Amino acid sequence: MTSISFKFYCERNCRQTQARAGIFETPHGKVETPRFMPVGTIATVKGLTPAQLEAAQAQMILANTYHLHLQPGEEIIKQAGGLHKFMGWKQPILTDSGGFQVFSLSELRKISEEGVTFRSPRDGRIIDFTPEKAIQVQNALGADVIMAFDECPPYPADYDAVLLATERTERWLERCIQAHDRSESQALFGIVQGGVYEDLRRQAAKRLVEFDLPGYAIGGVSVGEPGTLINQIVAVTAPLLPQEKPRYLMGVGTYSEMVNAIAQGVDLFDCVIPTRLGRHGSALVQGERWNLKNARFREDFTPLDDCCPCYCCKTFSRAYLSHLIRSREMLGYLLISLHNVTELIRFTERIRTAILHDRFLAEFGHWLR
Ligand code: GUN
Ligand code: ZN
Repeated sequence: MTSISFKFYCERNCRQTQARAGIFETPHGKVETPRFMPVGTIATVKGLTPAQLEAAQAQMILANTYHLHLQPGEEIIKQAGGLHKFMGWKQPILTDSGGFQVFSLSELRKISEEGVTFRSPRDGRIIDFTPEKAIQVQNALGADVIMAFDECPPYPADYDAVLLATERTERWLERCIQAHDRSESQALFGIVQGGVYEDLRRQAAKRLVEFDLPGYAIGGVSVGEPGTLINQIVAVTAPLLPQEKPRYLMGVGTYSEMVNAIAQGVDLFDCVIPTRLGRHGSALVQGERWNLKNARFREDFTPLDDCCPCYCCKTFSRAYLSHLIRSREMLGYLLISLHNVTELIRFTERIRTAILHDRFLAEFGHWLR
């Protein structure tokens, strides 16, 4: 199953925790882990150019099958020569399968063993998504990593409902593997579901590992449950996934949840937080969220974060950013998004450096819950 185009290896393992510094090699280059991946839902990390993403040290970015299928449609992206060419990003891309987005974004959805039927929020069309369809669309988009089509149960959900969703996700995985005809150039990752139920997580992880996939994700978290529960789910699930494969915690991107997951051996993260906060004029600084509209920034001529190497922090003051946000100028939102994305990638890079120098617990232990 694992092809020559994809390789994952650990450069260093932490001695006190399961944390590791690794390299994930893909057809579009390497991803140094642990690493935060910015989200580019509709083939754009909102407000940032590929050149800015590169300067922010982004190595792999996300896009969404669900959104790109609705608009512009995978045929147009295929005609463009694939997602990388279409959006001008030369480094690795991961596409999410659409399952999660169907559940959270569309109306009139109906789930059956076959797949999901829903009404397009764009034009009211009725659309069928199945495991086969999700893979076919992702094959056409051409990302380096593609995700299995899964059913993510809501939180809270009772045991029996989560059991059904988790077992269906396993059956859907088999169909995804069958449908995937580009395994040389696209790595298919499986997704562990199981909600907050430890025995279901264990069972799902065990069965998934039997498929010997090139990577594994932990899904079904960050759906409204408290952060401490996320840490517990990750602590139960991550150690059951193979050491020699990349592990990806889906939809998680807060400082504390990332450090806790890294301590359990998770390598990859994604989250819309940095760009969403940026669009609302809020900056991630010193582990806090600052709203630039706040009066305290009006006459503050220091940089947003004087340790940050991003263009925003190197060039502009808090007072200027506050002025832009108060005036609803688009540059303000873009600059803060640039800073926020840089900040989260830099946070995971500092963790990586700490692991490489045997300083993970010493430097980041205070985040552990
Ligand atoms: N993004 C965040 N959580 C999930 C999940 O459980 N499944 C999928 N496919 N994407 C996600
Ligand atoms: Zn910055």
